[in-house]
Amino acid sequence: MEPCQKLSLAHDSRKSRGCSFAMPKRTARSLPGYAGIMSNFDGAVVLMIGATGGLGSRITTQLERLGASVVPVSRADFDLRDVDGPAKAVAATIANHGRLDGLVIAAGVVAFGPIESVSDAAITELFATNTLGPIRLIREATPHLAASAAAGRDPFIVTFSGIVADAPMAGLASYSAAKAALAAFTKAATRELRKSGIRVLDARPGHTETALSRHPIEGIAPTFPAGLDPDAVAARIVRAIVDGEKDLPSTEFS
Ligand SMILES: NC(=O)c1ccc[n+]([C@@H]2O[C@H](COP(=O)([O-])OP(=O)(O)OC[C@H]3O[C@@H](n4cnc5c(N)ncnc54)[C@H](OP(=O)(O)O)[C@@H]3O)[C@@H](O)[C@H]2O)c1
Repeated sequence: MEPCQKLSLAHDSRKSRGCSFAMPKRTARSLPGYAGIMSNFDGAVVLMIGATGGLGSRITTQLERLGASVVPVSRADFDLRDVDGPAKAVAATIANHGRLDGLVIAAGVVAFGPIESVSDAAITELFATNTLGPIRLIREATPHLAASAAAGRDPFIVTFSGIVADAPMAGLASYSAAKAALAAFTKAATRELRKSGIRVLDARPGHTETALSRHPIEGIAPTFPAGLDPDAVAARIVRAIVDGEKDLPSTEFS
């Protein structure tokens, strides 16, 4: 099958281009060069939030190479801070594709600085983007992912709480708090959604060399030691999706 191309949320033509869905229950256990894995993702509809980002763009490319039909969503399509944005993104995906088999939430913002100087605007944006938006997305996606499981597929959710969820950092207190809240939600969701056949994978990499820290919504990034290679982080996450892993703590990225 010809790999499906990226689609905008608003202008979907994948169904008319005949992308079929045939992802069986997980069968692949390894990912050397992705050989032999392609059929696992053929036609799997994966909603990618943060598709313009350093990690989201790479995961999109890698999933598409495996045959997934990735629906790339960026801030231009909907803003995670909008209360009704997640419902619209999921509804548009279902309207255009008829199903949902994966949700990757690779969007986020960071702010740096001491506790006494963080602004109300930054606190609000950190929690709206990193916590509330992802929670609403998971809520909206859950019935459709459960339907995917009921149809015999292997639906998944990927979140990015990051290493700060496990080890909150000085100078990143509000960001750490927003991510720790997301991690708590995903941990509960992992347990709750298991019975519906939905796998929730929370990725907690350490500092990674994307543009995230170079465009904080407030403050200036400290000088970090060299971070992780974003290609390697993306590949590790895709491998975890394929292999049916259930958690991705920071140690999995070192
Ligand atoms: N890089 C790291 O060191 C690191 C480590 C651990 C965890 N993480 C987490 O991993 C995720 C991806 O990070 P990244 O490194 O790929 O960052 P990135 O390159 O800065 O990409 C961030 C993405 O989030 C999107 N976004 C930001 N605010 C949004 C909003 N209000 N509504 C919709 N989309 C929004 C951006 O869209 P636009 O392009 O339109 O702005 C972009 O696609 C984030 O949640 C981040 O916190 C990153």
